[in-house]
Amino acid sequence: MKVDGKHFRSIWRDGDGWSVGAIDQRRLPHEFVIAKLTSCEDAAVAIRDMLVRGAPLIGATAAYGMALAMREDPSDAGLKRAFDTLIVARPTAINLKWALDEMRAALAPIDPVERAAAAYARADEIVEQDVEINRGIAASGLALIEAIVARKKPGETVNVLTHCNAGWLATVDWGTATAPIYLAHERGIKIHVWVDETRPRNQGASLTAWELGHHGVPHTVIPDNTGGHLMQHGMVDLAIVGTDRVAANGDVCNKIGTYLKALAARDNDVPFYVALPSPTIDFAVDDGIRDIPIEQRSGAEVTDMTGRTADGRLETVRIVPEGSPVANYAFDVTPARLVTGLITERGVLRPDRASLAAAFPERIAAVVE
Ligand code: MRU
Repeated sequence: MKVDGKHFRSIWRDGDGWSVGAIDQRRLPHEFVIAKLTSCEDAAVAIRDMLVRGAPLIGATAAYGMALAMREDPSDAGLKRAFDTLIVARPTAINLKWALDEMRAALAPIDPVERAAAAYARADEIVEQDVEINRGIAASGLALIEAIVARKKPGETVNVLTHCNAGWLATVDWGTATAPIYLAHERGIKIHVWVDETRPRNQGASLTAWELGHHGVPHTVIPDNTGGHLMQHGMVDLAIVGTDRVAANGDVCNKIGTYLKALAARDNDVPFYVALPSPTIDFAVDDGIRDIPIEQRSGAEVTDMTGRTADGRLETVRIVPEGSPVANYAFDVTPARLVTGLITERGVLRPDRASLAAAFPERIAAVVE
């Protein structure tokens, strides 16, 4: 997607052929800074410190992390060390494990002298596959948006509500929740996005708003607790969110606050869709609410806010009384019964075990092996 009129991806192999470039998302929306990753440790830190974030991008970064590791030490011990370093970088996004499993399966059987080249080749494939998958999600989701246009007066604006950032910055390109939005915009459909600010880290306000703005998609940032009111007054045609992990039963783990939006949507008959690439499905987890561990992040994300002052400085200020305890659950799980449909690269699916299994039999087979 576009930044100042120029096409960008969130991660790429640099011109030197081996190092990896990535947009430093910690600096957005105030500064556009490109980071250079030159080692497996750099990739692990980028994931851990949220220089990159979003489930698909975490997977892509881990794949390049494995490639960087194979340059340094392609031995069996080096392969194991790289896997072990990266797998613990963040806990929720299952795409991290998916990408690392893919890399290990490609590299373990081959001669160590061939591993570096093979690792870059497989990582490049994973990155390209992410873009292709998101194009598929765009096409699946576009049909939903077109149906709404047909139902409303043609030519009227379609209002989509989204939570957190499941845009191109959270993937390699296009995004998941935003993919149908970008495609609809490209096709000339009038579309407007309600962007939840997404406390505590504000991925909506700082990332989704930034990328939609740069790509020219009309949007409005709203405090997190606004969605219910908008839905009650017919101001949301559909909600589309992303996800970090979908359990085999269709339960959806996503950024904290997603569940409340799904409840509000159900109460107001607003369709609530989740966009996901197939690597986000975790067939090893039967029941999302019971079995997906919820990442708890630093209390500083709740107590402190960073922003730009009127004279252009970046400053962090405390907004909670000294000594007040805080809790920072980073994700929640929306039960499948509140999800209207799962927008995937293989169509819009019912959020249940049978539909997921029928659409992605090869992923089930991989779990059973
Ligand atoms: O904690 P983050 O920023 O890594 O959160 C992950 C997300 O960006 C979201 O939960 C997102 O909506 C799903 S990933 C496409």
